Amino acid sequence: MSKLYVVGIGPGDQENMTLRADRALREADVILGYQVYVDLVRERYPDKEFRTTLMTKEAERCRMALDLAQAGRTAALICSGDSGVYGMAALVCELRGETIEPEIELIPGLTAACSGAALLGAPLTHDFAVVSLSDRLTPWETIERRLTAAADADFAIVLYNPASRGRPDHLRRACEILLRQLPEDRLCGIAQNIGRAGERTEILSLGRLKDTPVDMFCTVFIGNSTTKLVGDRLVTPRGYHV
Ligand SMILES: C[S@@+](CC[C@H](N)C(=O)[O-])C[C@H]1O[C@@H](n2cnc3c(N)ncnc32)[C@H](O)[C@@H]1O
Repeated sequence: MSKLYVVGIGPGDQENMTLRADRALREADVILGYQVYVDLVRERYPDKEFRTTLMTKEAERCRMALDLAQAGRTAALICSGDSGVYGMAALVCELRGETIEPEIELIPGLTAACSGAALLGAPLTHDFAVVSLSDRLTPWETIERRLTAAADADFAIVLYNPASRGRPDHLRRACEILLRQLPEDRLCGIAQNIGRAGERTEILSLGRLKDTPVDMFCTVFIGNSTTKLVGDRLVTPRGYHV
């Protein structure tokens, strides 16, 4: 039976990719993905055929992967982090629809919330909310409502897609919304290029975060009301008495 693997490759480095993801890529005849992600794995699988599409061509990429699998080739569609977190997993399922072929196997990966949190310390040890600041597919009003609700409920918050070339000021706008409810000195963190060249973290206040430039390879963390610095680590306690 023809098969399509949808693979979360983790943040980028081999050590943060699961053994199951590695096995799927070794089994695949063709590996497909956005150019940046394909470049992260290309050298590790030199005998494979690679297909890339532009960042905004997600549906084209998924259809190509389904068509290759349908034609009898084992295909692996790769996503950074986890394919079910702002990745291609849902779109692949929607495009295949109610049919049973090709078989789809979804392989989870380490999402940026987890890999970035571990670099910063332990900011997500209690309840947290994840919000993407990309308004390409989601109206900004919805993003604003979710940010407001997460701040109101005292969630630690992880922000994906904090900026891109077309929307350089989304993080500043998000911080302004959060600052309606949260104090300027609320502890925050940035994890940039996790598992890739140029990996970097920064811990800073929400007031400073508002004016800090970020790019599309950053994941941003907003602490909850209990988040504190322990040494150089950003920590949200679970509540144990120590
Ligand atoms: C379209 S989302 C993809 C998320 C991905 N599926 C995941 O689970 O991590 C892209 C956003 O994920 C975050 N991200 C993904 N990989 C990252 C990395 N290696 N370092 C920092 N942030 C990353 C950034 O916020 C980026 O703008």
